[in-house]
Amino acid sequence: MKTAQDHSEIVSQMTGQIVDCLSNIMNVRLFARESYERQYFRQFQNDEILRSKRAANVIQIVQLIQGVLSFLLMILVIYTLIYGWSQSWVTLGDFSLIIMTAFTMMGLIWFIDSQISLLFREIGVIRASLSLISEVHAVKDIEGAQPIKITAGEILFDRVTFNYKRNSNLFEDESLIIKAGQKVGLVGFSGSGKTTFANLILRFYDVTSGRIMIDGQDIARVTQASLREQVAMIPQEPGLFHRTLMENIRYGRLDATDEEIIEAAKRAHCHEFIERLDQGYQTLVGEGGGKLSGGQRQRLAVARAILKNAPILILDEATSALDSVTEKLIQESLKDLMKNCTTLIIAHRLSTLADMDRVLVFDKGQVIEDGSVQELTKRKGYFARMWKMQSHGFLPEEANE
Ligand SMILES: Nc1ncnc2c1ncn2[C@@H]1O[C@H](COP(=O)(O)OP(=O)(O)OP(=O)(O)O)[C@@H](O)[C@H]1O
Ligand SMILES: [Mg+2]
Repeated sequence: MKTAQDHSEIVSQMTGQIVDCLSNIMNVRLFARESYERQYFRQFQNDEILRSKRAANVIQIVQLIQGVLSFLLMILVIYTLIYGWSQSWVTLGDFSLIIMTAFTMMGLIWFIDSQISLLFREIGVIRASLSLISEVHAVKDIEGAQPIKITAGEILFDRVTFNYKRNSNLFEDESLIIKAGQKVGLVGFSGSGKTTFANLILRFYDVTSGRIMIDGQDIARVTQASLREQVAMIPQEPGLFHRTLMENIRYGRLDATDEEIIEAAKRAHCHEFIERLDQGYQTLVGEGGGKLSGGQRQRLAVARAILKNAPILILDEATSALDSVTEKLIQESLKDLMKNCTTLIIAHRLSTLADMDRVLVFDKGQVIEDGSVQELTKRKGYFARMWKMQSHGFLPEEANE
């Protein structure tokens, strides 16, 4: 059981390596690392062969012992029979009956044994898979969790402390309130915790202490599905399914009609490029959207969010891959969408913050400044310095640039 479990673990690791390698095929080719990858994979393969042999050896040893024992038993039976016959308490009939029975039984025992070792091997394999399935989920709905009802879209952080495993606290005792309908820009250098802030609102992680309330309901006490149903997020790297464009946009709202989808696509300025494709909305986008450009992928993600039309909208660099003309156009349509919902916009281009009611400046997981663009530029603090440092509306990579 133990050796079979070991073996099955390495087999799943090996499969994982293949998937990881294939999904990074672009890197492999960019750096011409085909032979390196082969070598890298060989290590796992060798380990797999070793463990496979070990598992097979255990079975061989068991069968060897059994073979020797059967052999000894046969000798003993034959010897006893011959001895009995010479002493005349075994007849010729007894002799053949017992020999035949002994052989048949031996065969059956052999069969049962091979089945049993097969059984234990399978138990080992099942154990290895079950250990994956039975892993405890990080974020769970509490018992009797009710769906959340978001109408206004007010977000309250009440003394929130949070950290990823290993890391030091990213948010510590953070309290703030985002009023319903407010348009808030989140800025800060790379790694300052902006995406994490958004992920906490979507409850992808549970806070260590404190609570996050939306419209007066603690998000830890409602169902995750209902929460995510009512918050539209365009992530930093929008993923697409290897399905048609139509299906990909419809992911925002499954019961949307084709007309609604085309309408959303028009507002997100996807319609232009989709129309030019041979199969239009029925075009398959390739794995992860590989057959589309980065900007096209982002526009599809925007279309999804427009279709979803949720009371809370979070954009994580949603237009970063677009040229400034297309970006302007999309911002126009987003303005429409933002009119009746609470909006959080994460942006590296400070120029995109012009229409925001309020800006939160992040630094190492703390909100260090909070106010309108005018206030913050006047205050001569962190934001004012970033504002000055930015050239053409972009933030430099590091503070010391
Ligand atoms: N899943 C994770 N597990 C552990 N640490 C993480 C995880 N995601 C992010 N971090 C860490 O948390 C910190 C904040 O990351 P976050 O993604 O929130 O930054 P960000 O402000 O969105 O940066 P960027 O502008 O580059 O997108 C980083 O130091 C990062 O390494
Ligand atoms: Mg981010």
